[in-house]
Amino acid sequence: MTIHIGAKPEDIAETVLLPGDPYRAKWAAETFLDDVTLVNEVRGMLGFTGYWKGNRVTIHGSGMGMPSLSIYANELIRDYNAQTLIRIGSCGGMQKHVDVRDVIIAMTATSLSTPSSGIFKEINFAPCADYGLLRAAVDAAQAKGTPTHVGGIYSSDVFYDERPDLNEQMVRHGILGVEMEAAELYNLAARHGRRALAVLTVSDHLLTGAALPSEDREKSFGDMVEIALAAAFT
Ligand code: ADE
Repeated sequence: MTIHIGAKPEDIAETVLLPGDPYRAKWAAETFLDDVTLVNEVRGMLGFTGYWKGNRVTIHGSGMGMPSLSIYANELIRDYNAQTLIRIGSCGGMQKHVDVRDVIIAMTATSLSTPSSGIFKEINFAPCADYGLLRAAVDAAQAKGTPTHVGGIYSSDVFYDERPDLNEQMVRHGILGVEMEAAELYNLAARHGRRALAVLTVSDHLLTGAALPSEDREKSFGDMVEIALAAAFT
């Protein structure tokens, strides 16, 4: 047990999918895994372990924002020995050719700051995905026929951003979408020698104002979960 995860050491699989929302963890585990066990519910941050095509996997909520993700990813890596960590979540589209429902596979994640900024000091460390996972996710998305974009994303500290100039610079530099967790996941994976990736569904669009209709959410999020699972076990 750790401060934030009540699971026994053997309860957590080497492969962990990390949605921000604990109820999405529950939905994904119940929808895609067999023999599912609830392994954590401390502070309502639900985690489940089960099997996908015979492969053991944990799906655990990360909460919203990098400080929250940092707590869970640190404990999963350092105390539970997680080797492969894949964020599954939503993001806001930032390019005209990116539509709601599309999937973004994040090669790298730009940020203004992360919980790791203090140790990097003047260095602008470039957090990046594990290439093998990224390639496997692209293959899985292509096999499913899911419209998918691969490139840089922006991990923001604020959802209600009072500085539109930052988003404008991201758009100008070809950033595909904005979310709030991936950069620190990539930082932590680099620090501890683990594999990390973020597979994201575009749920809203900063340029067009479009939003994923609620009746389409399940199908779109399901595609993302299946892409992440296929990538993890390729
Ligand atoms: N996650 C989903 N949509 C987002 C947005 N517009 N900004 C930040 N995070 C998001």
